[in-house]
Amino acid sequence: MHSTIIIRIIISSLAATTASAQSCALQFDGRVPANLGLAGFDAANQVFSNANVLGAGLKFSQLLQLPQAVGGSLFDVDTVPVEVTISDASIFNGQTGFRRAELLPASNSGTDPSTAGVKTLHFSVLKDAQRPLNLSHEYQLAFLESNDFSTNQFVLKTGTVLGQQGAADPDTLQLFGNVNQNQLLFSVPFQPGVFHNFAVTLDFDALTTQVFFSAGNDPLEAVTGVVNNDVSGQGQFHFGVLKKPVGGVGDITRNGFQPDAIDEGIIFGGIFEEDSSGGCVSLSP
Ligand SMILES: *[C@@H]1O[C@H](CO)[C@@H](O)[C@H](O)[C@H]1NC(C)=O
Repeated sequence: MHSTIIIRIIISSLAATTASAQSCALQFDGRVPANLGLAGFDAANQVFSNANVLGAGLKFSQLLQLPQAVGGSLFDVDTVPVEVTISDASIFNGQTGFRRAELLPASNSGTDPSTAGVKTLHFSVLKDAQRPLNLSHEYQLAFLESNDFSTNQFVLKTGTVLGQQGAADPDTLQLFGNVNQNQLLFSVPFQPGVFHNFAVTLDFDALTTQVFFSAGNDPLEAVTGVVNNDVSGQGQFHFGVLKKPVGGVGDITRNGFQPDAIDEGIIFGGIFEEDSSGGCVSLSP
């Protein structure tokens, strides 16, 4: 084991037209090319799965938005943000207790190298003032679901987190480790009008996690040390809106209350994963 983690700081170029100088080897790139277009998400593409996760009978072009006014997130140099929205039709696989829609990286099969070795996952989230979440509910915005669907090895939540003792202000982003241990790794107020940038280094050999964060265009900074977290079990990364019910008992995928006539969304940017086996973590583009 290396006793130190070497953080390679990439100094950003002032020339806005320069291609991304992010220089750790990429595992996958979920940054959306400006020319992909909404219809591009319905066909097989190099960025995200066109099959999962979305409500029965829906197409991604019906639930995604490409909001141009917000500008790119920290790592969107030549790429654009994408918004994931949910409606009353966002019922996936008979899960009537949930409303959900999520983007899954195209190459992330559940057993691919994105969940092996040491990898750093990057993503940014921004509120849509026109499609606010209902903070009476718990939402999962980004998570790794194990390949046997038995756990989430990390999960970014907001809203009223079910079962949480001494509950935080629900308008908070809370990043938890493996839900079987339910360790809160990091939390930050979910401010309007600014991207919240996360990087999560996942060591699938040592079973540890380290969290990096910044707001807006600031470079990422480590906000935790390297902490024990059971990231075993491989699986798939999800980015979107998974709204849990209130008042559910037992299997909440199929019971509990969900209000009607919803129109809610979260804007994502800068989704990619890099190889950190040599200690490489990009803190800025
Ligand atoms: C928010 O959710 C609660 C619980 O489901 C519901 O009672 C309330 O009507 C919802 N508020 C809005 C504005 O939809």
